[in-house]
Amino acid sequence: MDKQQIQHIRADFPILAEKIYNKDLIYFDNAATTQKPRCVVEKIEEGYYHLNANIHRGVHYLSQKATEAHEAARTIVAEFLHAGKREEIIFTRGTTEAINLVATSFGEAFCKKDDEVIVSVLEHHSNIVPWQMLCERKGLKLQVIPMNEHGELDIDTFKSLLNERTRIVSIAHVSNVLGTINPVKEIIRLAHEKNIPVLVDGAQAVPHIAVNVVELDADFYVFSGHKIYGPTGIGALYGKERWLNAIPPYQGGGEMIATVTFEKTTYNELPFKFEAGTPDYIGSTALAEAIRYVQNIGLENIANHEHELLTYCTQRLYEIDGMRIFGTATEKSSVISFLVGNIHPYDIGMLLDKLGIAVRTGHHCAQPLIDSLGIPGTVRASFAFYNTKEEIDVFIEALKRVVIMLS
Ligand code: ALA
Repeated sequence: MDKQQIQHIRADFPILAEKIYNKDLIYFDNAATTQKPRCVVEKIEEGYYHLNANIHRGVHYLSQKATEAHEAARTIVAEFLHAGKREEIIFTRGTTEAINLVATSFGEAFCKKDDEVIVSVLEHHSNIVPWQMLCERKGLKLQVIPMNEHGELDIDTFKSLLNERTRIVSIAHVSNVLGTINPVKEIIRLAHEKNIPVLVDGAQAVPHIAVNVVELDADFYVFSGHKIYGPTGIGALYGKERWLNAIPPYQGGGEMIATVTFEKTTYNELPFKFEAGTPDYIGSTALAEAIRYVQNIGLENIANHEHELLTYCTQRLYEIDGMRIFGTATEKSSVISFLVGNIHPYDIGMLLDKLGIAVRTGHHCAQPLIDSLGIPGTVRASFAFYNTKEEIDVFIEALKRVVIMLS
């Protein structure tokens, strides 16, 4: 994308023109959450002003319209992930809820004492804790795939962890700390050789990489709307139909029922079986708008631009003495975690903030990974398609000043 295209795109994001402490905002915290284009916010406003009515419940005009919008959003998400069937898409509050749903419902149906669940050392807490809770509840064991010094998973150890007690593998597509793009297709193939299903946490992947769940052969794939320029509080779970049919509902109430008596309740068909309560139809329609926006720019254009930013920033960071970058995988997304000498990451983050630059500092909700690196945390810069090389130049000069101040 050329400069003019980027400026054109930036104009769609009013927040990017904000001043922070009188400085131009430089937003490099996109792995935590992305900013929202005007069309997404307008979709939310349009929803509440012109469409609002509870879905799947009313015969009246607005209810029908809102239902159609929610179901059209499901189709857009299904096409975005290249799911075989739209009924395989369940709207959730986000990645975390989607993983909790699978850990609870799959765990209930298929796991028993002494079974095993495999995750990796670079998972976000959202892809560790729900499985640990299942392990505690039912007496399972959590197995962890280690990584090498570049932040790449050790596939030989993974192979050796797969055994007749393994019930499920749950793995990030892209690490939120290191940016590593994991070989999920290979991981799925190896697990399937032993008939073990795989959940892929796509929270950090879908904003950057075209995902085809059928080609990957993923059994479950989850992501959050807010990381792909959509609203907070909405996300999706893709599950193969046969798995979603085989596991029990996660929550009860609302549209998930077929019939209810005090003696027995029967459950609705997919996808409604997993959408208890009033669904977030405003969120789903705004998420669909965000997906449309991303598709208009084109995921290939996005990936190319973000890769340029990643390469440029990495190269410039090494101008600074004592620079240590964590995560140097060959396949890497636009996330850079670093430390400079012995300076604490919070100190760097706080001073950069005073210069209008938003980065994330700390353990990034991946404490086991940070512990395995033997560090207190990192400073993390994460880029989106609206970021520019000029912003990186300002960031590098600011960082050089901050390092001098703190050394
Ligand atoms: N998962 C988000 C991050 O990596 C919050 O910052």
